[in-house]
Amino acid sequence: MRNLAVLTSGGDAPGMNAAIRAVVRTGLSHGMNMWGVCRGYAGLIEGDFRRLGARDVGGIIQRGGTMLGTSRSMEFMTQDGMELAMRRLHGAGIEGLVVIGGNGSQRGAEALHQMGFPVVGIASTIDNDLSGSDVTIGVDTALNVALNAIDNLKVTASSLQRTFLVEVMGRHCGYLALMAGIAGGAEAVVLPEVEFTPENLAVHIIECYDRGKPHVIVVVAEGAKYNAEGLCRYFKEKELIPGHEFRSTVLGYVQRGATPTCADRLLGTQLGVAAVEQLVAGRLGVLVGVHKGETITTPLAEIAGRDKPLDPRFLKMAEMLAK
Ligand code: F6P
Repeated sequence: MRNLAVLTSGGDAPGMNAAIRAVVRTGLSHGMNMWGVCRGYAGLIEGDFRRLGARDVGGIIQRGGTMLGTSRSMEFMTQDGMELAMRRLHGAGIEGLVVIGGNGSQRGAEALHQMGFPVVGIASTIDNDLSGSDVTIGVDTALNVALNAIDNLKVTASSLQRTFLVEVMGRHCGYLALMAGIAGGAEAVVLPEVEFTPENLAVHIIECYDRGKPHVIVVVAEGAKYNAEGLCRYFKEKELIPGHEFRSTVLGYVQRGATPTCADRLLGTQLGVAAVEQLVAGRLGVLVGVHKGETITTPLAEIAGRDKPLDPRFLKMAEMLAK
């Protein structure tokens, strides 16, 4: 394999740049010509490639986002789009591709693999909803941003004895909310995966104050049945928490754009190196991820579209410790 390309796709995640850097420099050390595909699959179908040398990926390891740009391309997901992408790759003489991204991006990688193109995926999404890796690139940074915010909110919340509903990212998956809730010492977490009613949550909040708590922090996943603002509105309309004030804070994209933590830089680097090694060894159509600290590979066909359920032990822990 002489020409290898790398692309980032879907939501950007802190640590993607570390992965790009590792892919490029590992490929160069194997004597390959390295290419970056700009703007993910959208750039792939336009043939938007740029040659990358060691210097081109210098000074990026500490930067959030992705130096290549990214996209959520609907066109690529069509048969025509995929065939065009294949023609672009062949036309540029590219013989292998590393896809850095989450669920949707790895479905695209699997489609290219099915069409016979040598592909390896790298598990990267702040949501941590990708099976095939205990943790994905970007999760640690996103959690640390949430924790920073929760710590700060606790200060003002206790000063005024308020309830704060802090909304974190995670459209279909409550992992970030659950872990930020546990590590941030929240009084409750609201997740898409767990049934709840605002009425029960309100009872729980009142009990917290009755037990002498100076504040209540509720971490809400954006994809839960009610988001933070929706819950605030509901509490107000139904007067469910009389005598207590509550506020909502939506963290949103702030979580995605942060400076990558040490853990995310190391994970991006570990997986970037591993992805190229898989391609060199001819182990194609796999996702590289981590399990118990070790690099593992899983066939893309097994992970594409599969859910990654929350660990019930953490759900129990969150409930038990919120006393
Ligand atoms: O990349 C994952 C994610 O950040 C989710 O947490 C969030 O729901 C979604 O992307 C937002 O998507 P977009 O960037 O397209 O608005």
